[in-house]
Amino acid sequence: TYVIARACVDVLDKACVDECPVDCIYEGARSLYIHPDECVDCGACEPVCPIEAVFYEDDLPDDQREHLAANRDFFAELGSPGGAAAVGRVGADASLVAALPPPE
Ligand code: F3S
Ligand code: F3S
Repeated sequence: TYVIARACVDVLDKACVDECPVDCIYEGARSLYIHPDECVDCGACEPVCPIEAVFYEDDLPDDQREHLAANRDFFAELGSPGGAAAVGRVGADASLVAALPPPE
């Protein structure tokens, strides 16, 4: 799967959302999250993020590897809705992201 990592937090550019052919990029409160089971690894989201927040899981920098689990954790309660547009903005985050310091 592809993973949205640290740089997205409190930025949420959302250019990636428009590129995803299966609508599997979901919006939390402080970040977006890629559904690890719905993502088909097409890779379209990775180059369009202006701040390079998207990585293939094997390419995550070592200090951001925990975001792989965070992207999965985000869906613990949502399950697999099968499309982000119908879900809309979820006012919560994975615990890893929620615990990050607020923007300056
Ligand atoms: Fe975030 Fe980049 Fe998408 S900032 S919302 S991963 S375009
Ligand atoms: Fe969508 Fe990116 Fe996966 S465009 S299918 S989330 S690689």
